[in-house]
Amino acid sequence: MELILTISSGLLVGCLVAISWFAGSDAPYVPTKIELLKKILNTAGVKKGKKFYELGSGDGRVVIEAAKLGAESIGIEQSILRIVYSKIVAKKLNLSNARFLHGNVFSKNYQDADIVYIYLLPKGVSRLEKQLRNQLPKRAIVITQTFHFTNWKPYKKLDLFNEFDLSKDIKGAGSFYFYQR
Ligand SMILES: C[S@@+](CC[C@H](N)C(=O)[O-])C[C@H]1O[C@@H](n2cnc3c(N)ncnc32)[C@H](O)[C@@H]1O
Repeated sequence: MELILTISSGLLVGCLVAISWFAGSDAPYVPTKIELLKKILNTAGVKKGKKFYELGSGDGRVVIEAAKLGAESIGIEQSILRIVYSKIVAKKLNLSNARFLHGNVFSKNYQDADIVYIYLLPKGVSRLEKQLRNQLPKRAIVITQTFHFTNWKPYKKLDLFNEFDLSKDIKGAGSFYFYQR
C-alpha cells in the first residue's frame, strides 16, 4: 500500500512538473528553432556592446545565442523551472554575460535596451507594443516572431520558411519582423 502511494505521488509530481514546463500565461512554451537564431540576431545587430532582452525567454536558447555573440543578454521568464534550466546551461557554457530573471515581462522596464526579442501570443504582443513604444530609447530594435505588432510598421521582414523546413511548425513560425523605435 505504501509503495503504491509513493509511486502515485511520484507520478503526480512528475505530471505537474511536465505540465508546468509547457505552461505560460501569455504563450505556452514553444521554442524558436535554434537554426534560425544566428541569422535573426545578426540581422538585428546583436554584438558586443549591445544590451539584448528576451521577453519570455523559454529554455534560454535565444539569450544564450545573443550572449555568444558578445551582447549583454537578459531573459525574463515566468517559469521558474525554465529559469533554473537556462541558468545551468549558461553556467555550463561559461557565459557570464547571459542573465535570467524570474518574473512577468509586463512588470519590467526596458529603457536601457538596444534589442528586444518577443515570441508571445497576439494579446501579449499587442500589450508589449504599447509598453515598448513608451519605454524604449530611440533607435532600439524589436524583433517579433510569428505574431507581430499591429500599429508599429516594421522596417524589415524575414520569412525563413523556404530556407528551413518549418512545415511541421505552427502557421507563421519562421516569420520575423524588425521594428525600430
Ligand atoms: C512561445 S514561448 C517562446 C520561448 C522563447 N522566447 C523562444 O523563442 O524560444 C513563450 C515563453 O514566454 C513565457 N511567458 C509567457 N507569458 C509570460 C509573461 N507574462 N511573463 C514572462 N514570461 C512569459 C512562457 O512561459 C514561455 O516560456
